[in-house]
Amino acid sequence: MEEVSKVIVVGVVTGTMFLLLFTLIMMMVLINYQRRKKKLAYEKKVMEAQFEQELLQTQLEMQEHTLKTVSQEIHDNVGQILSLAKVNLNILSMEGQQDPKITEVKELVGKAIQELRAISTGYFADTLVEEGLIAAIKRELTQLEKTGIFSTSFQADTDQLSIDKTRTIFIYRMFQEICNNIIKHAQATQVAVRLIIEKQQIHMIISDNGNGFNESDETFKPGMGLSSIRQRALMIGAKVNIQSSAGQGTTIELIFNEANT
Ligand SMILES: Nc1ncnc2c1ncn2[C@@H]1O[C@H](COP(=O)(O)OP(=O)(O)OP(=O)(O)O)[C@@H](O)[C@H]1O
Ligand SMILES: [Mg+2]
Repeated sequence: MEEVSKVIVVGVVTGTMFLLLFTLIMMMVLINYQRRKKKLAYEKKVMEAQFEQELLQTQLEMQEHTLKTVSQEIHDNVGQILSLAKVNLNILSMEGQQDPKITEVKELVGKAIQELRAISTGYFADTLVEEGLIAAIKRELTQLEKTGIFSTSFQADTDQLSIDKTRTIFIYRMFQEICNNIIKHAQATQVAVRLIIEKQQIHMIISDNGNGFNESDETFKPGMGLSSIRQRALMIGAKVNIQSSAGQGTTIELIFNEANT
């Protein structure tokens, strides 16, 4: 009888241990499965973010290429046609045609040539690098003043920056988008740009006194502009700080290294 109960006890203990072991193994398998699922989801997210970044980068490169082509076309073709028109108008006035309309058209063509030059300089990377970032910013501010809507100010710790070609182009494109947004959205009357150099870092601070915005607002509609500013910053190791709130105007600070070290 004792033998039988011994066998039963051993059986129960073995069974329980078996069950425990089985449960433990199942739990481990489940935990492992959950871990792998989480890891896969994380990897998927990282890959998606990477893909989005690469897509944006390609878009920016294509945009730069298009800008180059368009600005070259403006400069070489349209610019030349207008110059030719101006020469012909000059010949007409030299031939004694004194119609005041001719003088007027001549002035208009001259203005169109000047404006086109300003536009193509702003978009053509090589001339942009030649003129330098500070001159380019001043030119852009003059264009803003010309609209008659904005008064602008510019303050800088230096009159020459030593930054490489890529950064000059990237920072300028970011600045152009900031100006575009001011024109399109801010309803501002004042635009101020400050360049501060601190510990070999350049702080470019662009402020407007417009209506401001809040990126976490439900009504906020993101576009390409702000994300391309952030993407360009990432590509050259710059920082972007945006301070803006409804009715308080907007201040955007771009921080980047002076030399490519
Ligand atoms: N200086 C500013 N003042 C007021 N609102 C601004 C300013 N800059 C940006 N915004 C707001 O942020 C939003 C997003 O700007 P973003 O540049 O990303 O897109 P967008 O200008 O609408 O379109 P896109 O740049 O693609 O042509 C704008 O729609 C606008 O509401
Ligand atoms: Mg924009």
